[in-house]
Amino acid sequence: MSDLIVVGGGIIGLSVAREAALAGLQVTLLERNAPAREATWAAAGMLSPLAEAPDDGPFLDFALASLRSYRGWVRAVEEASGMEVEYRESGKLRLALSGPELDRLVERREWAEARGLGVRWFEPEELRRKEPGLALSIRGALLLEEDFRVDNRRLGEALVVAARQAGVRIRTEVTVREILLEKGRARGVRTAEDDPIEGDRVLLAAGAWSGTFSELPVPIPVRPVRGQMLSLRTEEPGMTRVLESEEIYLIPRDDGRLLVGATVEEVGFEGGITAAGVRSLLEGALRLVPGLGSAPIAEFWSGLRPGTPDGHPILGPAPQVEGLYLATGHFRNGILLAPRTARAIVPLLTGSEGPTIPDVFSPARFEGARREPVV
Ligand code: GLY
Repeated sequence: MSDLIVVGGGIIGLSVAREAALAGLQVTLLERNAPAREATWAAAGMLSPLAEAPDDGPFLDFALASLRSYRGWVRAVEEASGMEVEYRESGKLRLALSGPELDRLVERREWAEARGLGVRWFEPEELRRKEPGLALSIRGALLLEEDFRVDNRRLGEALVVAARQAGVRIRTEVTVREILLEKGRARGVRTAEDDPIEGDRVLLAAGAWSGTFSELPVPIPVRPVRGQMLSLRTEEPGMTRVLESEEIYLIPRDDGRLLVGATVEEVGFEGGITAAGVRSLLEGALRLVPGLGSAPIAEFWSGLRPGTPDGHPILGPAPQVEGLYLATGHFRNGILLAPRTARAIVPLLTGSEGPTIPDVFSPARFEGARREPVV
């Protein structure tokens, strides 16, 4: 019997499983397809606390703590796996294309400066010297220095190797149908093949599918939010920074690809690529860098983010079920928040000291909420 059963082999499940195994637990991870696919594979790998947090508060603090631990965490994963994951501390340029966008960006600059967060302002002339391919219509740019990137696909592959190396037993193509409950305690899971798998504790880290366990006494209101993306092939790896407008973001990879993301769509569990989605991505990209019009398209894909009603992740012990823990609902920030999530969750499992999880992330905040059907 395992000390811990992890349901879900995305970046969150893998990161917690690895850290729990390193802390001495016997860990079995169950993944219904292959690990590190789904949202982990579909993501862009932006590590963007400043761009994603609307204001001060626990989310920004948690995200910054995760970002600031990223280098050490990635190096440990690279060392354990023998793989390089293209982690780059290259910064992001937020670009304003209109008067109202410029006003909002100036406001953001003042907000960041007042908090001592690393930002730098560029007027259009200076910006064009730095990034000559940018559209002449750009009115100003804010460089977010603490905004990094990683190749999430490589990171996912490396984490699988590193988790196995730490002792995690990864079982693929095992769908969990229900969490086994006995006298208010989780005692394992039941698979779609009707096999019980017993474990002392269970961690639910099933991403967009986390809300599908109707046997739990308290709802987990996670819903899928589709993101469509594409990548372009550029001739040389000229651009190093992430570029972002209010519409889209462009993420360079060292091999010359440029990722364009992403739509945010409430279409349930529907994957796929649509004409309107691709049009919005391409229009947004060409508005920022007109020369991309001649770039060949390399790939299209989409993924399902795990969204929550308040946009915060759901982290900690499940209410009313002893031995069940949740690490889900990371929405647009699973890649960024993985190290801090693992660091915060594992001490709850081992009974040791760890970083405090903000109350606003607690699963208990949904006690009493109505259970919505997950479609
Ligand atoms: N992290 C960016 C996105 O989800 O589109």
